[in-house]
This record gives sequence, C-alpha cells and structure tokens, in this order.
Amino acid sequence: MSAILKFILLTFSLALVAVPLLSKAEYGDVLINNYSEDAGMRPVVFPHWFHRIRFRCKVCHADLGFKMQAGGNQMNMLKIIDGEYCGACHNGEVAWSVETCDLCHSGMPGMSTQVHQSTASKLLSGANRKKQESQQ
Ligand code: HEC
Ligand code: HEC
Ligand code: HEC
Repeated sequence: MSAILKFILLTFSLALVAVPLLSKAEYGDVLINNYSEDAGMRPVVFPHWFHRIRFRCKVCHADLGFKMQAGGNQMNMLKIIDGEYCGACHNGEVAWSVETCDLCHSGMPGMSTQVHQSTASKLLSGANRKKQESQQ
C-alpha cells in the first residue's frame, strides 16, 4: 500500500474514533442522567477532579450530603436553585449561578449515568456487547 493511501486511511480512522470523544466529558467525570434527558435537557457532566482539587471531600460528601455514588443523589433544579447540592456553590457567590444551563448540561445525548470511562462502565459495555452478539 502506498504511504499516502496509508496516511489517508489513518486520518480517516482517527476521525471516526474522534467523533464519540467530542463530548466535554473527561476521564473521571461523573455523568448524571437520572432526569435530565427525560426532561429534554442534555445529561449533566460533573467534573469531579476539577472540584476535588479545590475543595475537601468532606465539604461535599459530609457537609453537603452528596452520596459517593454516580447517580446516587436525587437532584433536581428546584432543590439546586434552593441552594441544595450543586446550588450550595453555584449561586453566583461561590461560583457562577444556575442561569448558564449548558455549563452543567453538557453531556452527549444518550449517555447514561456513570463515571466516565471507568473500569465499571467499560466492563458493562463489554458485557452488553457480548450479550448483543449472543442474541444475533
Ligand atoms: C464539589 C463537591 C465534591 C467534592 C469536593 C468531592 N466530591 Fe466526590 N462526588 C461529588 C458528586 C456531585 C458526585 C456524583 C454524585 C451523583 O452522581 O449523584 C461524587 C461522586 C463521588 C464518588 C462516586 C463516583 C466515583 O467516581 O467513583 C466517589 C467515590 C467520590 N465522589 C469520592 C470523593 C473523594 C474521595 C473526594 C475528595 C478527594 C471527593 N469525592 C470530593 C461531589 C464532590
Ligand atoms: C463546594 C462548592 C461546589 C459544589 C457543591 C459544586 N461546584 Fe461546580 N464549581 C465550583 C467552583 C468554585 C467552580 C469554579 C468556578 C469558576 O471558575 O468561576 C466550579 C465549576 C464548575 C464547572 C466548570 C468546570 C470548568 O472546567 O470550568 C462545572 C461544569 C461545575 N462546576 C458543575 C457542577 C455540578 C454539576 C455540581 C453539582 C453536581 C457542582 N458543580 C457542585 C464549586 C462547586
Ligand atoms: C450547576 C449545575 C447546573 C446548572 C447550571 C443547571 N443544572 Fe439543571 N440539573 C443539574 C443537575 C445535577 C441535575 C440532575 C441531573 C439528573 O439527575 O439527570 C439537573 C436536572 C435538571 C432537569 C431535570 C430535573 C428537573 O428539575 O426537572 C431539568 C429540566 C434541568 N436540570 C434544567 C435546567 C435548566 C433549564 C438550567 C438553566 C436555567 C439548568 N438546568 C442549569 C445541574 C445544573
């Protein structure tokens, strides 16, 4: 195969790989989609590491009562605007307020609640794939 053809094929396959990565979610982010998509919003991407380097675990997981489980908190916008969960900080004082919806609702449509690219989610999608293959 000529070098130029190889190059074209490589660029093309890289472009295919890049498509699913266009979402804002990065490794370790928590994707939260208990209610968002059902309500016509994109799933929420919570950048865990961004927050972890700024606050102690205790601030969120003890004082604010966040359960340590992806999707384990029943959050909705009324509670958040009322100052619970994300709203304890995203109130225009500690951090920008809830008005900028798409800074939080930035997930790709169709993404389910998970820790982004966690071992668990890889195993899960592997298992799903095998299940689908065995059904064919
Ligand atoms: C700014 C708030 C905040 C801080 C600080 C924070 N977390 Fe979290 N954490 C969250 C939220 C929000 C979730 C997702 C909960 C959900 O999906 O309902 C989460 C999820 C988790 C999870 C389950 C998902 C996963 O990645 O496995 C663990 C474990 C966890 N946190 C541990 C920690 C530890 C350890 C620290 C300190 C080093 C910490 N968190 C600091 C807010 C925070
Ligand atoms: C303990 C306080 C605190 C809590 C709770 C909190 N945040 Fe934040 N968040 C911050 C601060 C501070 C910033 C940085 C704001 C800035 O740069 O102006 C931030 C920034 C962000 C960013 C932007 C990150 C970036 O790359 O610039 C997103 C997205 C975000 N938060 C989502 C959430 C979501 C979703 C929740 C609830 C699940 C949440 N936050 C809960 C304090 C918090
Ligand atoms: C600071 C982060 C943040 C911002 C900003 C934000 N949301 Fe949310 N929103 C959340 C979280 C977290 C949930 C719960 C996600 C889930 O479980 O699907 C949620 C859930 C929702 C839901 C479904 C639950 C419900 O309350 O009905 C709707 C609709 C929604 N948001 C609309 C909005 C709109 C409209 C805006 C802008 C005016 C906005 N959100 C801004 C974090 C945010």
